[in-house]
Amino acid sequence: MRTQVGIVGAGPAGLMLSHMLHLEGIESVIIERASREHVQSRLRAGVLEHGTVDMLKELGLGERISTLGLEQHAIDFRFGGESHRLDFHQATNGRRTWVYPQHEVVTDLMKARMQAGAQILFETSVTRIEGLQTRKPTIHFEQGGEPRELQCDFIVGCDGFRGVCRDAIPDSVLKIYDRVYPFGWLGILAEAPAPTNEITWGCHEDGFAMLSIRSPSVTRLYLQCEPNEDADRWSDGRIWAELHKRLDVPGMPPVNEGKITQKGVTAMRSFLAEPMQYGRLFLAGDAAHIVPPTGAKGLNSSMADVKVLGRGLVEQYKRGVADILDRYSQICLKRMWLVQRFSAGLCTMVHQIPGDNAFVRRLQRADLDYMTGTVAGRLAFSENFTGLPIEI
Ligand code: FAD
Ligand code: DHB
Repeated sequence: MRTQVGIVGAGPAGLMLSHMLHLEGIESVIIERASREHVQSRLRAGVLEHGTVDMLKELGLGERISTLGLEQHAIDFRFGGESHRLDFHQATNGRRTWVYPQHEVVTDLMKARMQAGAQILFETSVTRIEGLQTRKPTIHFEQGGEPRELQCDFIVGCDGFRGVCRDAIPDSVLKIYDRVYPFGWLGILAEAPAPTNEITWGCHEDGFAMLSIRSPSVTRLYLQCEPNEDADRWSDGRIWAELHKRLDVPGMPPVNEGKITQKGVTAMRSFLAEPMQYGRLFLAGDAAHIVPPTGAKGLNSSMADVKVLGRGLVEQYKRGVADILDRYSQICLKRMWLVQRFSAGLCTMVHQIPGDNAFVRRLQRADLDYMTGTVAGRLAFSENFTGLPIEI
């Protein structure tokens, strides 16, 4: 088999890149380990940055966001028994975010790709890639138990944190930055309408909590927990008691209870691999970087990488100009370090960190006061949360 761009992984990054290339007449093949149903039903991120939504709309994928997406203008931070509403729409002169879950983005992308006759090999595992410093890099994969090969001009590793592509970069070249946090999130899906139409963060001395929205009748809730927590140790009664304690404040409608339909634990990690390119291999999305979910940057960062890479590949194929491709890693890493800074800073600001002393806890509270109570604090949060520009 042969193609122009071989893509490993049909998550949001792989599907979006393949869609962008298709619109410019560039051929790609995606190889995906999981089934189509599995890829489309994975419950993950919920918030889209302003720039991500613009990108989806520009690429003809905005129809369902316009009807199902919930536009957000503010976050309600709850701490010290009070509500502190941070209006990022006002602070940034009109920038906003949308609650539109990742599985809907994937569904839209999958539909567009399938309608265009995309070549996606599902339930097919890539075993290794080679020839990255040659003009004919090759993807080795297994299909129906048989070893096969895909020869490409370029290989793009969109295979997530546990994929195989990053490992193909020699240890002497690859530098890894990694931090694991001593807490996790218990994520809950409940059949209950949100009490207001705004996302609410509870920065409580017993641990962080968040109330987000998935649809007018479904809320997505998170509770800080142990990193290796067993979700079954959390009965429905315990979950609602903790959510009320960490999120409810006088004068605001309390969390609405409802049937819990899903619960699971997400560990927290900051991770970055440098460089994001090696010869004819490019890494995009979680394959290159992971952020703790607090800042809602995982999916959005994947889209930012793909925007740069898509533009670079189009320039290469259409005009024979390699400038953007050559600078891909440099362009993405500059922005990604700012995203890492925001995500890690926010994560350590709002969670209770085991072992921290009273002084550190008071500093956390001062950080929250500064972020919500000053013009500079509100602006800094707002420009990061709604999405930093992608400077190509
Ligand atoms: P992925 O979505 O991980 O896609 C990678 C794909 O590659 C997968 O489909 C995988 O099956 C495939 N693959 C891997 N190895 C191979 C192989 N060898 N051969 C073939 N295919 C392979 N972000 C937020 O912003 N907010 C959140 O609340 C949030 N919650 C999350 C919860 C969980 C449990 C996880 C895991 C992530 C969460 N994220 C969240 C992060 C966000 O979902 C990711 O940043 C986003 O999915 C990245 O997209 P991607 O396409 O780069 O990678
Ligand atoms: C979600 C919402 C957020 O505001 C955030 O910071 C992280 C995740 C969500 O809806 O999943």
